[in-house]
Amino acid sequence: MTVESVQPESRPEPAAAPDEPPAGQLLEPPVAGGAVPVLGHGLKLVRDPLGFMSQLRDHGDVVRLRLGPKTVYAVTTPTLTGAVALSPDYIISGPLWESLEGLLGRQGVATANGALHRRQRRTIQPAFRLDAIPAYGPIMEEEAHALTARWRPGQVVDCTSESFRIAVRIAARCLLRGQYMDERAERLCTALATVFRGMYRRMVVPLGPLYRLPLPGNREFNRALADLHLLVDEIVAERRASGQKPDDLLTALLEAKDDNGEPIGEQEIHDQVVAILTPGSETIASTVMWLLQALAEHPEHADRIRAEVESATNGRPVGFDDVRGLTHTNNVIVETMRLRPAVWILTRRAVADTELGGYRIPAGADIIYSPYAIQRDPRSYRDHLEFDPDRWLPERSKDIPKYAMSPFSVGNRKCPSDHFSMAQLSLVTAAVATRFRLEQAPGSNDAVRVGITLRPHNLLVRPVAR
Ligand code: HEM
Repeated sequence: MTVESVQPESRPEPAAAPDEPPAGQLLEPPVAGGAVPVLGHGLKLVRDPLGFMSQLRDHGDVVRLRLGPKTVYAVTTPTLTGAVALSPDYIISGPLWESLEGLLGRQGVATANGALHRRQRRTIQPAFRLDAIPAYGPIMEEEAHALTARWRPGQVVDCTSESFRIAVRIAARCLLRGQYMDERAERLCTALATVFRGMYRRMVVPLGPLYRLPLPGNREFNRALADLHLLVDEIVAERRASGQKPDDLLTALLEAKDDNGEPIGEQEIHDQVVAILTPGSETIASTVMWLLQALAEHPEHADRIRAEVESATNGRPVGFDDVRGLTHTNNVIVETMRLRPAVWILTRRAVADTELGGYRIPAGADIIYSPYAIQRDPRSYRDHLEFDPDRWLPERSKDIPKYAMSPFSVGNRKCPSDHFSMAQLSLVTAAVATRFRLEQAPGSNDAVRVGITLRPHNLLVRPVAR
């Protein structure tokens, strides 16, 4: 089972909402219980975001939350989250995205809407198409094997830095090709890690002007953000100066034309590179960390992966061409993404009065939903908290409701990188599991750390040679 095969195809029309009442009889969604004066549900959301989002399903399919003075609409069923993702009436906007604008810019594909977004997707899509992925195979293989070659049996591996490193290196080397990327990839890693930490803090504790004070934490954040933007400018300038046009995403961006046939502006090129590199590295890095944690926690599945890889490769190093045939490896990845989704919360804003599940959603409303909560819903998954990769075998996965597992989302904002991501995750998992058994090292803390993505607090593993 692969994530693509459990994901329904994107469709232009929204999924039908169940039990639609006749027009004119739309109800106000219930207010979720537990709001306190002034702060509403805000404190609960900040204190225990995952628990809070998961229990909302007990209050209704759509519920209203009070976050300070604001009302936010939370959607809690797979069908309705599919409807939100597929409907053109819900766009990318709202507090989460506004807080990310300092990082992602305003003209990048992750934050643009409407005609600009459609044009940008047309430009970047060829680099992520299924038939483009094999060209990245040699780089992915090189990076996966370099990772296992670096690790020494018995030595403690810091999974946070290792996972970031491989994620950034693969994204940067595949999509912005060039030797110079190797040393830049390290700088990108450092800058991105600091920036993501700071962005999340600014998102959940919006202290506005306090973040402009010259405090050490703010200075470090500003330096990292400036370095990130500088790096991107350097990469673009160097490519231009080289006069080379390799067949990659950067060339596609540099050659892109706007709707008038004019070259797109410098700011848009810059924002596009940032908007592709940043989600590309944080999500993959978090998922690699959870995969390493899963290999350590479930050695029986690590052993099955190893047996599967060895029977496919006869002992030679696992390669890109092997990964599509690695069923159990893929099922372990999907199951890890189900229980520990990197992207745990998504938001939209309604641009018109609409309805969801028979409830009225007014124009301008902010909508929120949690893939984490959806993917752990006991109504969708038997033994919902069990790590059970075999639930993705075809005879069992057919009972899983539509949109109950969409880690790359669906619709016009669907992650362009599903194939690219699955290929590298499979290669890394297969390469690690064939070479080492993993155990968590003393001092390791695999509790969930909630940030822009979910990842372990501080995962440390000790590889043991096979
Ligand atoms: C969008 C998940 C890896 C680039 C998204 C969205 C999800 C997602 C759920 C949709 C967000 C929304 O609906 O608001 C993931 C996961 C990944 C991953 C789980 C890996 C495990 C990557 C990689 C790249 C990437 C490797 C690039 C190299 C993007 C971009 C968007 C996006 C550019 C915005 C698309 C748009 O708005 O049109 N991703 N992603 N992602 N992702 Fe990924």
